[in-house]
Amino acid sequence: MTKKTYYITTPIYYSSGSFHLGHCYTTVICDAIARFKRMDGFDVFYLTGTDEHGQKVQQKAEAAGVTPKAYVDRLYDQIVELWKVLGISYDKFIRTTDNYHEATVQKVYEKLLASGDIYKSQYEGWYCTPCESFWTESQLVDGKCPDCGREVKLQKEESYFFRLSKYQDRLIKFYEQNPEFISPKSRMNEMINNFIKPGLKDLCISRTTFDWGVKLTFDEKHVAYVWIDALTNYITALGYLQDDHTLYDKFWPADLHMVGKEIVRFHTIIWPAILMALDLPLPKKVYGHGWLLFGNDKMSKSKGNVVDPIVLSNRYGADVIRYFLLREIPFGSDGNYNNEALLTRTNADLVNDLGNLVSRTTAMITQYFDGKVPAPNAYTELDRELITLCEGTLDKVRADIDNLSAPDALTDIFKIVQRANKYIDETMPWTLNKEGNKERLATVMYVLAECIRFAATLLTPFIPTTAATIFEKLGIKAPTNFNNLKKFGQLKVGTKVTKGANLFNRLDVAKELKELDAIAEQEAKKSKPAKEEPKSEQISIEDFAKVQLRTAKVLSCEKVEKSDKLLVFKLQVGDEVRQVVSGIAEHYTPEYMVDKTVVLVANLKPAKIRGVESNGMILCAADDKHVIFVTPEKDIDSGKVVR
Ligand code: MSP
Repeated sequence: MTKKTYYITTPIYYSSGSFHLGHCYTTVICDAIARFKRMDGFDVFYLTGTDEHGQKVQQKAEAAGVTPKAYVDRLYDQIVELWKVLGISYDKFIRTTDNYHEATVQKVYEKLLASGDIYKSQYEGWYCTPCESFWTESQLVDGKCPDCGREVKLQKEESYFFRLSKYQDRLIKFYEQNPEFISPKSRMNEMINNFIKPGLKDLCISRTTFDWGVKLTFDEKHVAYVWIDALTNYITALGYLQDDHTLYDKFWPADLHMVGKEIVRFHTIIWPAILMALDLPLPKKVYGHGWLLFGNDKMSKSKGNVVDPIVLSNRYGADVIRYFLLREIPFGSDGNYNNEALLTRTNADLVNDLGNLVSRTTAMITQYFDGKVPAPNAYTELDRELITLCEGTLDKVRADIDNLSAPDALTDIFKIVQRANKYIDETMPWTLNKEGNKERLATVMYVLAECIRFAATLLTPFIPTTAATIFEKLGIKAPTNFNNLKKFGQLKVGTKVTKGANLFNRLDVAKELKELDAIAEQEAKKSKPAKEEPKSEQISIEDFAKVQLRTAKVLSCEKVEKSDKLLVFKLQVGDEVRQVVSGIAEHYTPEYMVDKTVVLVANLKPAKIRGVESNGMILCAADDKHVIFVTPEKDIDSGKVVR
């Protein structure tokens, strides 16, 4: 029998900045779903990748003084490393700079031109470069990008347009016939009310004002609009319009495009319309998940509130991060990240519930049965309650995953863990041991070990490293499917378990919070751009001539009373004697200054400094530590012009 296929995608990630915990959210969720489906018997294809073209990348590369390709290569290395650390089990990683992708995008444009779906015209409107989005005047919010709130630029250029308006009615019909296509439901209403109902306008799909993109074969000064380039990745990765299209034949249409809510519009309006124009089947579902917030704002580089997933993973392990993202954020809605929530969630679920169950059970089997799983005897009603729970959980978790709710799936799996912990308190194995009731003790130990096997098998897609460690402790091979969850009692009697180290160590919340804050502070310092000298505007020679600089001889110098910084000078400036206050007391003693020749800004408006009249300013050179007064290189009379 051929396996049912399941094609799941993440968006391809912009290669224009570093990656933060918010970015990991989509990928970790898809990874858990992909792993679950594989274990549940599906032939899964999980695609992720990087979105490497566009104006934003070109600008960033220019600012960094490197070529766009060198720039995106560095980000590619970073993201591949990040997915490795987090254990992301993608089947393919696509880069939009891959040759096969670029060539296919060109063919897609050619097809659209041939079918009359694109035409050349003039674009005049607003563009948000960070979002790579076009907006009409009426869509702007307070003159800014409605998605990210940043500045938009007026754009005027020759462009090719896609006849999006032509697909309006077909799109509405498609939504009606496929009510699950846009999920959750609220996002469907948002799309219809905000975008479809006001009327779809044709979409600008090429750019001419920069060149970091896929060149259109029929008009080489145009590059493909980055969103069309990006969206087609979902089919180019499978070999669409290429010699080998086996994967396309097998996996398209996608079962699930998982995307953040801000890009649902591109995936549910533009993408289906392009597919309609290409005469291809439409994906089955687009799920718009919520955002990971930090302090009530979307976690994003531009807001400066990002959390580094590598720092957290190195400190606590990838599974702690995976578990938090999957369990804590109510699916479909936004969810808040803060370090305390991560630490308390870890202590409560992973240390207390799961860690304790595994360590108590393996310790007791070691102590009471020499580490060998004992044969159970007659099951009591209490045992049967746990058996029923275990045997019924796969179906529940499957339904949760079909609803794309990882928090529900984990809650259901943890019911086994929590029930088993309670069962230890109810059965009191230590008392059974004391009473010499080995028969009952054996049954209790067997039930507990089986509960752990059920829980660990079901947890494998979510926290794979931890699950693998549990199987090691249980002395059995990690399962690759759920076949052994149909019936309770599959764990072989006599299997040798080991207690070993704790799965998770309890985290000292106060101490960790302090240390995480210190790390964040250090990181913030590192990423702060070096303080730039304020760039002064150029001035004309006439402007400079307005400043009268004169040589002046110090007649006397004293400290200003009650001030550590100020010295008051009597200066001979030609025939005139001037009083000037200068803030150099920490650098020169009054005695040292007497008889020196300084340079004076002679036509500065008089001012009172600490109540002392000052008529001019003494020129000094300064760096972080020193202030050094400027003096002519050779002796010169006072009052002479400096220029
Ligand atoms: N390149 C486009 C997608 C093109 S797909 C044809 C893009 N890239 S992105 O790097 O900005 O975002 C990638 C994914 O990360 C998106 O699903 C986005 O929603 C998600 N997230 C980025 N910040 C996020 C949070 N703070 N919280 C949750 N997900 C977030 O969009």
